[in-house]
Amino acid sequence: MVSKSPWIFGYGSLMWRPDFPFVQSRIGYIRGWRRVFWQGSTDHRGTPDAPGRVVTIIADERENCIGMAYHIAPERYGETIEILDYREKGGYRLEVLPVVFENNEQVFASVYIATPDNPEFLGQAEPEKIARQISTSRGPSGPNDEYVIKLARALRKIGANDPHVFEVERWVRSLKI
Ligand code: SIN
Repeated sequence: MVSKSPWIFGYGSLMWRPDFPFVQSRIGYIRGWRRVFWQGSTDHRGTPDAPGRVVTIIADERENCIGMAYHIAPERYGETIEILDYREKGGYRLEVLPVVFENNEQVFASVYIATPDNPEFLGQAEPEKIARQISTSRGPSGPNDEYVIKLARALRKIGANDPHVFEVERWVRSLKI
């Protein structure tokens, strides 16, 4: 069954800080996508002089990206997208992708993705290097390492394993000491 009501899928900060009105949240995944700390952040977790790193997703047919899907009341969808367009303005654009729930039900959801053509995209690096950058960055939304730790916590809370996020988290924690 395909739902006609709007959904938003979050895989990064939108998992642990949705900060918009929704009527229901459900664990779901998008097939063929992988979460990576490849997006630079100059407006939330870093500055233009010292960008932080936050997650985006890249197409990878071997992977599924687990996250949280939020069901939005149709009359609140417009204002919600306005809030999120502003929040995610640092390189993300909205795409619509199929999200699969644990019971195999599927919906289409709006997802914010930062693609390699955006000016803040940083791309691939070794997890240690990513963590070193993160551990020294902070921006208007707070320290960059807090983003990593909260994302890892949100993933554990729903029983998800994301080796890339957990490896960056391990490095970040070790650099904190
Ligand atoms: C998301 O959470 O879905 C987008 C990336 C972010 O805001 O961290």
